[in-house]
Amino acid sequence: MANLAGTVQLHYEEAGQGLPVVLIHGFPFNHTIWRAQIDALSDSFHVIAPDLRGFGESPVPEGGYTMEIMAADVVALLDQLGIERAVWVGHSMGGYVTMAALREFPDRVMAVGLVATHPLADSQERRVQRLESAERALLNGSSDTAFSMIAVLFSSNVEGSSALAQSIYHIMVNTSPTAVAGAQRGMADRPDSRETLSKTDLPMLVVLGTQDRIVDRDVATAMVQTLSRARLVMIEDAGHMPMVEQPEATTGALRTFLLPLH
Ligand code: MLT
Repeated sequence: MANLAGTVQLHYEEAGQGLPVVLIHGFPFNHTIWRAQIDALSDSFHVIAPDLRGFGESPVPEGGYTMEIMAADVVALLDQLGIERAVWVGHSMGGYVTMAALREFPDRVMAVGLVATHPLADSQERRVQRLESAERALLNGSSDTAFSMIAVLFSSNVEGSSALAQSIYHIMVNTSPTAVAGAQRGMADRPDSRETLSKTDLPMLVVLGTQDRIVDRDVATAMVQTLSRARLVMIEDAGHMPMVEQPEATTGALRTFLLPLH
């Protein structure tokens, strides 16, 4: 039995039937970033899109949110739904959570989608920045994080004043400061996952926007080269949020990956 001590019951959206596919959002978002994929993929798959602890409508515990406890929350949700194994698709921090699941709960993972994410741990400098940002969130709220992230999330085609950018800003600024701090602390503590990835022989899809300003294309490409069964799909005219910036291309890449797994 998996160790699920300390897990919380996640809020989630569920649609469709068939192969279970869990869509895990990044930081500091919630499951609604996957709206287009939930609606499209549920014609053929059982799509489950949780709000990670602290985010969306899930409970907001105090303290650090390690990638492992967030993965355990998702496993507890799979247990609740009677699902033994699922395809885990993680965006950015959701990818870090998926890599933690590969370490801690490998029996619960059938295949992996990594969207705009990478396996490296933080540099010391990045760690310090994260811990400072956690403190600032607890003191001043989530707007600093929302403001600094909105500037780097999209390709050059998306204006900050556009409806798309504003909808994502709205999600970030309304995320609980406790969750911003908890996730920043958890990400600061996450280990390097390159060995975890290279040890697995599960089917993997890596999706990256050609204009992602958060994930380095060379790091993503190097990651794919070490994996025996991975495929890289680059999404044109997309930054760090390909699922909302180029929803059809992102859904198409996921569908092509998922169909043979049926
Ligand atoms: C995310 O989108 O989840 C974040 O950019 C991840 C990070 O801060 O490393």
